[in-house]
This record gives sequence, C-alpha cells and structure tokens, in this order.
Amino acid sequence: MPGILPTVFTAFMDKFLVRGGKPLKGKIEIGGAKNSALPCLAATLLTPETVTLHNVPYVKDLITQRRLLEDLGATVLTPELRTHKVTARNVQIYEAPYELVKTMRASVLALGPLLARFGQAKVSLPGGCAIGTRPIDLHLKAFEQLGATVSLESGDVVARAPKGRLVGNNIEFEKVTVTGTENVMMAAALGSGKTVIKNAAQEPEIEDLAELLNKMGARIKGAGTPVIEIEGVEALGGAEHTIIPDRIETGTFMVAAAITHGELEIKSCRPEHIKAVINKLREAGVEIEELNQSTLHVRCGSGGLKAKDVTTEPHPDFPTDMQAQYMALMTQAEGESKVIETIFENRFMHASELIRMGADINISGNTAVVRGKTKLMGAPIIASDLRASASLVLAALCAEGETLIDRVYHIDRGYETIVRKFRSLGADIQRITESIAIAADESAK
Ligand code: EPZ
Repeated sequence: MPGILPTVFTAFMDKFLVRGGKPLKGKIEIGGAKNSALPCLAATLLTPETVTLHNVPYVKDLITQRRLLEDLGATVLTPELRTHKVTARNVQIYEAPYELVKTMRASVLALGPLLARFGQAKVSLPGGCAIGTRPIDLHLKAFEQLGATVSLESGDVVARAPKGRLVGNNIEFEKVTVTGTENVMMAAALGSGKTVIKNAAQEPEIEDLAELLNKMGARIKGAGTPVIEIEGVEALGGAEHTIIPDRIETGTFMVAAAITHGELEIKSCRPEHIKAVINKLREAGVEIEELNQSTLHVRCGSGGLKAKDVTTEPHPDFPTDMQAQYMALMTQAEGESKVIETIFENRFMHASELIRMGADINISGNTAVVRGKTKLMGAPIIASDLRASASLVLAALCAEGETLIDRVYHIDRGYETIVRKFRSLGADIQRITESIAIAADESAK
C-alpha cells in the first residue's frame, strides 16, 4: 500500500579498527574459562540448593547461559560481576528453546542435568555452525545407555527417564567429545548405580566440572583421564567453586606477544593446562618462562619465528581452539608449516581473510600449508567464528596500516573486554559501533 513506511529496526554491528605494527608490552590478567563456566552453570540445575561460582567470565555466552537458567526458573544473583549465586529450587520448565540454543550450542549442557534431576528434558537440537556440522548423537546415545528414551520432535530432542531416574552403565565414546563427557558426567551423578565413561575427554574443564560436582556431593573419580567412574547419589547439595583460568585466552595472548615482537607477563593463568601450546610455541622460537604456577613471561626469541607443523587433537595435545591463532603466527615465521585440523571439518574460515591481508596459505582437505614470512597489509576483513576472529585481530596487530574487522560479535562471545585488554598493552585498536536500519517484513505482522 503506497505511503505506509515500513517499520525499521536499528541493529548495531560492531567492528574493530586496528592499526598494526606496535609491539605489545606489559602485564595482562586472564579471566575465567568460558568452557568451564558454561558446564558449571548447567550443573547448578542438579540441586535445589545454592551454588556459588566465582571467576565467571563476563562474556556473551555466559550471559546467554544465565538467561537460560532464569528462563527455566532458577534465580541467579551476581553480588559481584564475576560471581554467580544460582538457586535452581523452583525449576518448573525443562526446556531449552530454539531461540537460545541457536545462539549458543552449549545450551545442550542443560540436557543431562534436567534429565537426571527431573526425569525429563526438551532441548532444541542445535544446528550446524561455521566450524562444522557438530552433531550431538554421541550425547543422545549415551543418555539412552543410561536408560533414557530419546526422540526428536519438530526439531527438539525430547528425553525421558522412564523410571524417573537414570541407571548407571558402561559408556564408551566412539569419538572424544568434551560437552558429551560433561553432559553424561552430570547425568550419571544422580543416576542409580555406577557409570564408567571410557574414551572420555580429558580437558581441564572436565576436571573443573568434576571438582564442582564432587563439592556438591557427587562421587566422581578419574576426571582428566580417559576413564571416568561415577557412583550415582540420591541428591546433590550446594557448593562454592572458583572457575579455572581460560587456557585459550592465555594462548591467544601468548601468540599476541610473539606476533607483535612484544613482551608480556600473563598473570592469573595456569601454564599446566596449556603445555602443548607452550611446547609448540617454544619450538617455533618463542621464549616462554613460567615465573610461577600462575604467571608466564612471553616474548619473541632473538632468532625470530620458525615455521613448525601442528596437528590439532583432543587434550592434552594441541587444542583446536588455538589453531586459528597459531596459523596467524605461522604467516610471520620463516619457512613452510603444515596446520592440520582433525577435530572440526570446516575450521579454516580465517585463512581466506588472512590471504586477503597478504598471507601465503594453501588449503587442501584438513591441511593448510602456510609459507612465511609474509608482510601482512591492513584490509577490510570479516570474522566467521570466535577463534577465527581472535586470529584476525592478531594478524591485524602485526599488519602494516589499518585493518577493519567486521562481525566482531563473534569475539565478544568468548573474550572479555578484549579491546580494553589489548589497548592496555599498547595496541592501537578501537571498537566502532555502526547502527544499521533493517526494514521489517510488514507481511509478518
Ligand atoms: C567443546 O565443543 C568446546 N566448547 C569447543 O570450543 C571446542 O572446540 C571443542 O570442545 C573441542 O575441544 C565448549 O566446551 C562449550 P566436541 P564440543 O563434542 O563439546 C564430534 C570455543 O571456541 N561429535 O568435543 O561441542 C564433533 O562434531 C569452542 O570455545 C560428534 O560427532 O566439541 C567434533 O568433530 C568451539 N558427535 C568432535 O566430535 C557428538 O555427539 C569433537 O567435538 C559430539 C561430538
């Protein structure tokens, strides 16, 4: 109808403007681990008592997780920004809706706790994401082995514990899965009898979750090893727990020191959780000193960076969540390196953006061949996922000229106040917020 103006919504799209070439210097504090805080918050659903979590990172994914808990009926108090006091006494809804799950796959971590405590759960089946199809078939198969019935109804996973309680069993994962291990560990904690998980993930975040669950009264042994034993208990209680430091944020700042030929003291980290990255960076010529159990001193060695091959594997080997950052570093290393990605089938999206900046990278299947050292030039580029965006910021910090990075909402999902942190180390980086007008589809009204 002529004359009726369409409804326009304003959306805000942040970008980063980076002027590269400045060596980063100074001290940086590492925040709590996103990938531990997410399952630990989900674990609060296992008890009506209050669970207090400290060192919860203030990042978008945790804000989403908090919203999920509140939507389910839990109360979440934050006496301090990074302390969450969660009481899931009045949970009456056992459903993680599509609206939330589509923004954060880790919402599937509600499945185990809801099923274990309430005997039922409905969680929207997460779709694929930029880095891969990422099915949850292994989670669901394991729940069936614990006695649950699992069905897919209009895009939702509907799980029920027929006997009202899950029953312990031996579970062997065909493939190592981090959230799969976490989901089953939480579910089995309230099951009847004993569960043994074989080929379990061994990430430090699994150990951290098990530590919290044991404080809540669970009986879990072997977390952090390939075999986890869980003696189910009738009920779990409240607890207080401090989330471990984020090893991927630690690794990202280690690469930042090396790629800008700077010098950083990285504090409140846990070097023991990131040994494979420390060893690989040392091989590549980065000087890394463990000043103590929670502090690293990092700088680029006088001999410069050397190309070294890497293959991503489950912990304790080189983490896939550091692959993109490492690829950026290898563009600045002398020689040819192979970066082999074995965990996710589509985790080289950052490569094409690095090539736009002048990098020499050839991809074939799950192998990227990086030739260096190449001079990177500033350019407009686009982030595609959380770790890809981190690698693009690192490349921009050592590039000549200005780089404009679009879709940085990805980085806000997992890095806390990243611009402020880099600026505190001397980086020339700023966040640009652009408002864009979106015409609403009038017919939808
Ligand atoms: C966790 O994802 C992390 N996320 C990811 O970090 C990390 O990349 C990944 O583990 C691997 O280390 C959280 O902890 C919230 P997986 P998760 O199940 O648990 C396949 C980041 O950047 N698989 O260990 O979803 C799967 O497709 C994020 O912070 C199945 O086939 O990963 C993948 O190829 C990104 N069926 C492999 O296993 C299943 O049921 C490992 O996935 C489950 C997984």
